[in-house]
Amino acid sequence: MALPAALARVPFPVIGAPLFIVSNPKLVIAQCMAGIVGSMPALNARPAAQLDEWLAEITEALAAWDRSHPEQPSAPFAINQIVHKTNDRLEQDMAVCARYRVPIVITSLGARSDINEAVHAWGGVVMHDIINNAFAHKAIEKGADGLIAVAAGAGGHAGVKSPFALLQEIRQWFSGPLALSGAMASGDAVLAALAAGADFAYMGSAFIATDEARASDAYKQCIVDSNSDDIVYTSLFTGVHGNYLKPSIRAAGLDPDQLPESNASAMSFGGGEGSKAKAWKDVWGCGQGIGAVDAVVPAAALVARLKREYAAALQRVVARSPRM
Ligand SMILES: Cc1cc2nc3c(=O)[nH]c(=O)nc-3n(C[C@H](O)[C@H](O)[C@H](O)COP(=O)(O)O)c2cc1C
Repeated sequence: MALPAALARVPFPVIGAPLFIVSNPKLVIAQCMAGIVGSMPALNARPAAQLDEWLAEITEALAAWDRSHPEQPSAPFAINQIVHKTNDRLEQDMAVCARYRVPIVITSLGARSDINEAVHAWGGVVMHDIINNAFAHKAIEKGADGLIAVAAGAGGHAGVKSPFALLQEIRQWFSGPLALSGAMASGDAVLAALAAGADFAYMGSAFIATDEARASDAYKQCIVDSNSDDIVYTSLFTGVHGNYLKPSIRAAGLDPDQLPESNASAMSFGGGEGSKAKAWKDVWGCGQGIGAVDAVVPAAALVARLKREYAAALQRVVARSPRM
């Protein structure tokens, strides 16, 4: 199936994933100018009125870039909406997105037909994130245009499925837009995602270690210094299982290898500075792919690395291809 127009004009097949607290207009703009989809959660704008200012900043910066770089236009941007009953800003944030005709909306933690219809009414595309095939069916039945398959090893709230299993099951019945999420931080991984059936690689943690990301220097350096052995999968902090950096858990006074189970009521996505915001500020979400990250760099330099690695990996694959 052909991709919807907004997705078809993405120059390099990567979506910079939305990152609670960490993503901001500076990072989104840098990602889009570099040729990948940039995104951020609407909830990162606080107070809620700031979302309008941030969308104005993003749309104006990208329009100016496109005027001065007609040969190298920016990729479209995406806004992430947490479709969960505790998100008391959802209606208000959707109205702001409608005003700016946000090209791509990423929905998480709940699929709702009325949200999908609202995005379609202004000409936008909805990508919904899921961790298994059953949720994938539900999202498409409710009218999402595309899926983000969140496989094992993803930063933040992550699934437990092998990316191969998840993509294979979804591709048996769904030919629409499909992104793969989880532990990808290299151009080799982008090529692998495409080879396994995805249209896009969906990459979060690697972008935390960029100049533009709104994360502390200690968080960025911890990503540079760590690898998959330093990641723990737990539901303790938000009530939903996710991957976190062990050093930040030790710094919070806990033993990351002996964590108790969580109480699901810890999850809250309201507009205020709730327990979730505090947990994510002190305990750092991160996926398993960060072994590929060895320096804090501008987002454009990270995307340039991904493109170089992708090209080299493609050459290697072609050279190794069996004669059949
Ligand atoms: C610090 C952090 C915050 C995240 N916040 C959100 C969020 O607000 N909304 C969302 O849909 N996904 C969120 N995610 C998940 C990412 O969008 C994405 O699925 C994940 O980063 C991909 O895996 P990777 O980090 O291994 O690349 C977050 C991930 C991290 C690491």
